Amino acid sequence: MAVIPVALAGRSYDVMIERGCVLERFAESARPFFDGYGSRAIPFVADANTARFFREKIDAALSGEDRRAEWFVVEPGEGAKSWSVLEELTDWLLGLGVTRTEHVFALGGGVVGDLTGFACAVTKRGCGFVQIPTTLLAQVDSSVGGKTAINTRAGKNLIGAFHQPSAVLIDPLVLEQLPDREMRAGYAEVVKYGLLGDAEFFGWLEENGDKVLSREPEALAHAIATSIRAKAKIVAEDERETSGVRALLNLGHTFGHALEAETGFSDRLLHGEAVALGMVLAARYSERRGEMRIDDAARAARVIDDAGLPSEIAALGLNCNGAKLADHMRHDKKMEGDTLPFLLLKGIGKAYLARDVALDDIAEFLDEQLQAH
Ligand code: GLY
Repeated sequence: MAVIPVALAGRSYDVMIERGCVLERFAESARPFFDGYGSRAIPFVADANTARFFREKIDAALSGEDRRAEWFVVEPGEGAKSWSVLEELTDWLLGLGVTRTEHVFALGGGVVGDLTGFACAVTKRGCGFVQIPTTLLAQVDSSVGGKTAINTRAGKNLIGAFHQPSAVLIDPLVLEQLPDREMRAGYAEVVKYGLLGDAEFFGWLEENGDKVLSREPEALAHAIATSIRAKAKIVAEDERETSGVRALLNLGHTFGHALEAETGFSDRLLHGEAVALGMVLAARYSERRGEMRIDDAARAARVIDDAGLPSEIAALGLNCNGAKLADHMRHDKKMEGDTLPFLLLKGIGKAYLARDVALDDIAEFLDEQLQAH
């Protein structure tokens, strides 16, 4: 078992990574967070797919403790991160009489974690919650660090709060049920940690990425733990993304977000796939600026390509030009006047925040990429 602390003044918590900790030993793993409920039902939030896989197991584990769960089940997909679902969820939590010292369980991927975390941030000005991430992406990224949000007409994640969970329970065994495409999408965020700050881990992924993707237990556990250690360190240094350190976690996300916007935030390009291609573009743009060696940029593209993730923008078949993609970036919440802080690379494991990137130059670069190959 690995227990990775996220050290934050007054809000520290542990991320527990253990095969079977949810699917086989849920009551034991979660017992410290049942306090206060007595014979009242413990609230669980899940999406319909996750509930189908896990609800029976969780219910059985709780009944062995003479406890019971009450479930709030949302439709799968980003649609659940909305004002209307938030309203229903907070009403439901208030109806259950959840108090500030009690814990709500978020069982699912990023959507369920973000929605539940935000509902808990605003219910009675903040009640506890425990993240139980069931996708690789949520396990290595969104469940840790306390970013919670819903989407609005103006864009994704624009209404939200920093609200840290009280614990994150990661069971790599739950990934057995994850479709390969989602596994690959989550793997993009694993590659991100190597590329942004850990050249040795990146080298390990070059050798062992296939084992992670095929869910070999030892390789998978190593990839998850290394990713979370990196994230915990960054979050502890810059919880609210004010010093530029946490911004490193956005490597590939600015390009990626523009690609997601252009493809309508749809299944055509999953978030992780957009981030994967976004990181390749960040590497190639860094190379174009003379800041990254050509062979290092090629390594970044290869690791993504080898994982079956998109590494060529031209292959997406988009019907747009670079200016249109750059225009999507103008609505980014990190936009500062006319410039957008951009995560670029000085090598493998050497990401940095560039503040001199003109969106016109990005548009020109994207035109070159759209025409390439
Ligand atoms: N997913 C980026 C962050 O947590 O800061």
